[in-house]
Amino acid sequence: MSFAFGIGIGTQNNQGEWLEVYYQQPIMTPGKDLIDVVETALDYKGGNQAIDVKAEQLTRFANALRQLGQTDQAKLAEKAAESKRPVVVTVLATDDTASSTPEVYLKLHLISHRLAKPHSVKLDGIFGLLPNLAWTNEGAIDLNELPERQLQARIEGRTLEVKSVDKFPQMTDYVVPKGVRIADTARVRLGAYVGEGTTVMHEGFINFNAGTEGTSMIEGRISAGVMIGKGSDLGGGCSTMGTLSGGGNITISVGENCLLGANAGIGIPLGDRCTVEAGLYITSGTKVNLLDDNNEQVEVIKARDLAGKNDLLFRRNSLTGAVECKTNKSAIELNEELHANN
Ligand SMILES: CC(C)(COP(=O)(O)OP(=O)(O)OC[C@H]1O[C@@H](n2cnc3c(N)ncnc32)[C@H](O)[C@@H]1OP(=O)(O)O)[C@@H](O)C(=O)NCCC(=O)NCCS
Repeated sequence: MSFAFGIGIGTQNNQGEWLEVYYQQPIMTPGKDLIDVVETALDYKGGNQAIDVKAEQLTRFANALRQLGQTDQAKLAEKAAESKRPVVVTVLATDDTASSTPEVYLKLHLISHRLAKPHSVKLDGIFGLLPNLAWTNEGAIDLNELPERQLQARIEGRTLEVKSVDKFPQMTDYVVPKGVRIADTARVRLGAYVGEGTTVMHEGFINFNAGTEGTSMIEGRISAGVMIGKGSDLGGGCSTMGTLSGGGNITISVGENCLLGANAGIGIPLGDRCTVEAGLYITSGTKVNLLDDNNEQVEVIKARDLAGKNDLLFRRNSLTGAVECKTNKSAIELNEELHANN
């Protein structure tokens, strides 16, 4: 059984190097019969390969796919045969470290299509394979070619709008998964996993290899690698600590039915039904007064010792400044109206 397959339409620079690829219908664990067709029609030799495909090959490939009963993929191949942009067929026999840009894009698509969960796909080394690009209203452009394209657009009476300069595009230019609301699409990168029932408001952000399991209101930052459990809300401007810079090496996650208050932050994973007071940032080394139900101190421990534990309320005592942790008696109730996605 192979790991993944996708027919993609992409962009290359003037040197013929891949800049980005759009896979409309990526497939996870494609059957052997499908891979056999890629072998015969496109000369696939096994392993992980991104095959540049010409229009006439695509017509043959589409026929073979149709005979196999792969109607949707056959239609896609037929359409791709008419593409003005280069077409690639990517087969990942295994989930090894990617070795080309089309391979990386297929892996990112698998996550954003919810075919694979964050952390379940090998993404090491991807930065080196993702070129930093100008993402414009006319698609991805190599930064070296941008001034020429800008000039050309002006001459032709158009303006080329550069929406971002980044290695990752926004997810919604590739896929809009079912049942989500995203107020500012630029704030969710391709490779994000946006669970059904999630609303991302303007302040919210979701990095690649990160996301939400299901219903959530996201008004804060979900850093790379962070997963938010069902029913948990991230308040305005709050932060989950990432592991890409600054030495943090604990992968942060948030369990189910938690609330990170506005401007709060966490450097430890939370269990289920936890609340962090607005404005409180808990790092793993933060010393915490553990309080009983009568607000009497039980002990002082480091926040990392509370990692992943359920039913906790973290707050900063407004009189003493000490960070306190109590049993969370009033686990948040979802605001149904707020969470409705339609
Ligand atoms: C931490 C938080 C959950 C506490 O809320 P709560 O459980 O409803 O608690 P209350 O405000 O009713 O306070 C309970 C008691 O604790 C006290 N208290 C609350 N926060 C305190 C603090 N930081 N320091 C000292 N005492 C505090 C209250 O004064 C009150 O005392 P009382 O029993 O003498 O009346 C809340 O303050 C909070 O930060 N919510 C986040 C909301 C948010 O940001 N949502 C996202 C919007 S985008």
